[in-house]
Amino acid sequence: MPLHATAALLLYCRPGFEGDCAKEVSGACADLGVTGYVRTKPDSGWVLFVPHGEGAQAGEAMRILRGGLRFEDLVFARQLVFCSAFVDALPPDDRVPPLLAAVKALGSRCGAVWLETADTNQAKELSGFCRKFVPHLERALIAEHLLHPKDKRAPRLNLFFIDSTQAWVGLTDLANSNPWQMGIPRLRVSRDAPSRSAVKLAEAWLALLTEREREQRLVAGMRAADLGAAPGGWSWQLAQRGLRVIAIDNGNVSPALLKGEMVEHIRADGFHWRPRGSLDWMVCDIVDQPSRIAQLAADWIAHGRCRDTIFNLKLPMKKRFDELARCRAIIDKRLNQADVPYLLRVKHLYHDRDEVTAYLRRTA
Ligand SMILES: C[S@@+](CC[C@H](N)C(=O)[O-])C[C@H]1O[C@@H](n2cnc3c(N)ncnc32)[C@H](O)[C@@H]1O
Repeated sequence: MPLHATAALLLYCRPGFEGDCAKEVSGACADLGVTGYVRTKPDSGWVLFVPHGEGAQAGEAMRILRGGLRFEDLVFARQLVFCSAFVDALPPDDRVPPLLAAVKALGSRCGAVWLETADTNQAKELSGFCRKFVPHLERALIAEHLLHPKDKRAPRLNLFFIDSTQAWVGLTDLANSNPWQMGIPRLRVSRDAPSRSAVKLAEAWLALLTEREREQRLVAGMRAADLGAAPGGWSWQLAQRGLRVIAIDNGNVSPALLKGEMVEHIRADGFHWRPRGSLDWMVCDIVDQPSRIAQLAADWIAHGRCRDTIFNLKLPMKKRFDELARCRAIIDKRLNQADVPYLLRVKHLYHDRDEVTAYLRRTA
């Protein structure tokens, strides 16, 4: 029988970050009182957390995790899937029946179905298979009343294929997951952007702010500083949204960007330059020690130089998790000292490599 009932959390991540993702999810589950073990392979692009216990005990652990674990709090996870089964030995000419059996065992109606793979070259070879297979599966799921495409609130069914004969079967909650398939945003860089980095700020806004926050906090006419701005992708992105930008960099900013009135370039050191009065935003893409960048961002917020800030923290390969904790502690200490309430969200974005991107804002 190719169906194995296994309660587990499945997390996707950038290949190479499995250790950080595993450490983070184990800690988050332990905070909710759920212990378990992690299964992962280096460079696979995914991590499995299996709660201890079987049957009803495992079911209870998953119920706790589904209620308490927040996708937005997980830095290194690109997706969070609550799995209940693993299916293997799928017959190449008749994969549908075993998958239907696994979906029935989920005991939940679904509003959409995603067939996914890890973000590795090997796994991506399956994407053609997934594309061809999805309409067959959708038809069968609808016929069995397991898929209800008009239900826009029901959880999403995720089938994560290891290869064309094995898949994890689980659900994602729409309000507690990445809205992009495989956790990969489909964003294009405009030809007018001075650098490809422009797409990273666009992704940061999507991943770290809600739609309502974007509408309220990224408004034409606001003023921003861009520290480490050259050649100007982030400044361009801010200007596209109608913000006036002071671009700080000793290097050259794209001349085209300076033609309009939206961006002013000042040659200065981003660690020492200060605005006259307060701005709405500060963004910082300077590559430096993460603790130094965290201190800089916290100082800007503590002094009221800006209300919102997005910045990169380039983490050392072997100590990413610990260094991030250190940066969080620096921010917390500085803002507690200044008695400034804040919120901090951090994500390892699809367009990030060794760095993570943080959004820090003063909340009162
Ligand atoms: C990764 S690039 C920024 C790319 C930019 N965000 C974009 O979208 O085009 C980093 C920039 O930081 C600048 N930089 C490094 N140290 C700096 C400092 N102390 N003050 C200001 N800029 C600095 C570098 O000159 C470089 O242009």
